[in-house]
Order: sequence, then C-alpha cells, then structure tokens
Amino acid sequence: MAVESPLYLDACAAAPPAEPVIAAMLAAYQGAWANPSSLHGFGFEAADCLERSRQAIAAALGFPASWLTFCSGGTEASHGALLGAASQLPQGRLVISAIEHPAVQAAAHQLEARGWELAIWPVDGVGRVDMAWLDRLLAPPTRLVSVLWGQSEVGTLQPIETIGAACRRAGVLFHSDAVQVVGHQPLAIEALPVDLLTFTAHKIQGPRGIGALVARPDLALGAWIGGGGQEAGRRGGTEAVALAAGFAAAIELAQARLQDAGGHDPLQPLRDRLLAALEPLAGVSLSGCRQRRLPHHLSVVLTTPSGTPLPGRQLVSGLWQRGLAVSSGTACARGQASGSPVLRAMGYPPGLAGSGLRLSLGPWLTASQRDSLPERVSAALGAVQAELG
Ligand SMILES: Cc1ncc(COP(=O)(O)O)c(C=O)c1O
Repeated sequence: MAVESPLYLDACAAAPPAEPVIAAMLAAYQGAWANPSSLHGFGFEAADCLERSRQAIAAALGFPASWLTFCSGGTEASHGALLGAASQLPQGRLVISAIEHPAVQAAAHQLEARGWELAIWPVDGVGRVDMAWLDRLLAPPTRLVSVLWGQSEVGTLQPIETIGAACRRAGVLFHSDAVQVVGHQPLAIEALPVDLLTFTAHKIQGPRGIGALVARPDLALGAWIGGGGQEAGRRGGTEAVALAAGFAAAIELAQARLQDAGGHDPLQPLRDRLLAALEPLAGVSLSGCRQRRLPHHLSVVLTTPSGTPLPGRQLVSGLWQRGLAVSSGTACARGQASGSPVLRAMGYPPGLAGSGLRLSLGPWLTASQRDSLPERVSAALGAVQAELG
C-alpha cells in the first residue's frame, strides 16, 4: 500500500520558504553580506541590495519605498506602530478589536500601563467588529485605533476601508495588522485610509525573522529601538539584508500568483471545495465569517455528532497521526484553559471555544494533493471524531 506523504495545511502559522526565496537569500549572503552602513564598496553592495528589496516590496504592494521600515516580524512591527505613534501623541484612548493578535494586545497593554485608556471593540458571532460602536469609540479622547485586517484563527476580514475612513474624519490614527492578508489579495496600500500597516515574510513563503511596518510620511513615529540610526532612525541594528532579499522575492511570487489568477487567490476554489466537503459532516461547523474571509483559510469548531466539544489540541494531534498538519487556534496562543480568547470574544461558550480547528492552504500543495484534499480531510476528521468521542 502506498504511504501518503503528510500534508502541510498550516500556512497561517508559517509557510515553507519557496525556492526563489532561498535563492535570493543565498545570493545576498554571498554578494551583499557586508554592513549596509559601511562606506566602502562591500557596504555599498549591501545597501544597494537592501534598498532594491525595499523598492520591490513597495512597488508590488503599491506604496512609496520610503514608507517601509524593516524589522523582525509582525510582532515587532505592531509594537513599532502602536508604541512609536503613541510616543509622539498626547496621552489618550487606544481602541483595539476584541480579536487582535497577541502582539497588538501586548503593545496595547504597555500603553495602558503608561496611562493610556484602552477600549476593546466588541465583535459579533462571526468575528466582525460591531460597527454600531464606531462613533462612540472614535469620540475624544481616542487618538489611535488598531484593527486586525484578516483574523488568523477564524479568517474573518474586517471592513478596514470603512473604519479607516471614519478614523480619518475623526482625526484618529489607524493601524491595521495585515499579516494574513498580504499576498492573498492585490493591494494598493497608498490608496487605503490606513496610517500604519504591518506584515511579515514568513506567512508568504519568505524567511522567518523579517517583517515590515508601513507608515505614512506625514505621521510622527518615534523610534522603538534605539541604536545606530538605521531604518530612518526608527529601528536601530544592522539590517538583515539577506532576509530582506528573501522577503522581496516572496512578495513578488505572491503578487505574480495573484496576477496570473486574474487578481484572485488561486487557493480560494480549493478552500471552497474543502468547506463544501466538511460542512455536511455531523459535528462540524464553520467559525468566522462565510463571505468576508481570508481566501486560503478554513476554520471549524468540532464536536462529536451528538454535540460534545472535542479538545482542539487532541484534534490536532489526531490529525497529525493521519498525516495532516493543521492547527487549533493561533500558533502563538497555546493552551488557554477556557478555550480560544478569539472564539470566546465571538460568544462561544468555554467548551466549544476549545474545539477550534484551522486549516490554511498554500501553493505548495501539488495537483494530486489538491484533488484528494477534500476526501482526505473529511475521512481523517471523521476518524478523529470517532476516536475522541
Ligand atoms: C495576524 C498576525 N499578526 C501578527 C503575527 C506575528 O507575526 P510574526 O510571527 O512575524 O512576529 C501573526 C503570526 O502568527 C499573525 O497571524
């Protein structure tokens, strides 16, 4: 009997580096290894590589290259956005959604400890911020709002254009964490009513350890890491030139994929077939928004056919024993006793909030893996339900 190779269905946690990404990094390590601040030919080579990477990313995502600050990832970028912006503002209120990534929550709590008022924007049962709260939340003393564009655990997309436009009218700065969105839909970031936007390389087959903060030039942004004045003085430390080269290659690959598919994520039809196969199964129900969701993302809550919640961590391990690499909740927020804080914020009771499962797809799946995916996942889920039930 042929043994099936394991399937990686955890793109939203990290995506395997693509070959052109590794090639770009290798070339940079070989030819642009020097310190970009050095005033000799080796340094110029490294500085040139760094700036070419910055320009490639900015061109692909539709904003001027000077708006981009490289940093270590989405976590740091969100800290830079909130702490850097707040350091230049009078103290006031910060609003974040109830389903932010822990990185934004951590930065928000730091500001709270420094005297900022923190308001949490409630979400509905599918994870969309409740727009009825918008005017109240934007009233003084609100100075800063942060709303996650694409929720990593339940896939819901927020109406960030509407929120950003309202923030602009109210004179409030708006940050959005776009870590899960970049690479999955065409973007023209300059045209968005967003002041600060964060993303990271490793979710789109780029290297781990590099991310980006995009900030409008008219916005005062203090340094969040001091040092040698790199990255326009905002983020000290010798730049990760080879990682930036890999980041640029990953963005360009993702953009080319979107373009080839007419401006859509080519993974969406596969995700939709998978959803169509799973939804009829007893004890499987979609979590997050059906229409407005990340195109490569599928999340469900799993119970026995009679409705007893099944523990997410055991589901993940049972599925891995059957060759499927998936995740329950976010990779960054493991083991909460009362279940996922995201599902709790959406109104799920503690038992069910511990029964979430996420499957996120990527371009590495081969044609035959795609063909067999719906059947393979349905069979494995049924077997795990039977085993744990
Ligand atoms: C929505 C979101 N924001 C931020 C992050 C953190 O990014 P990084 O791992 O690059 O720090 C993640 C990673 O899981 C994420 O999913």
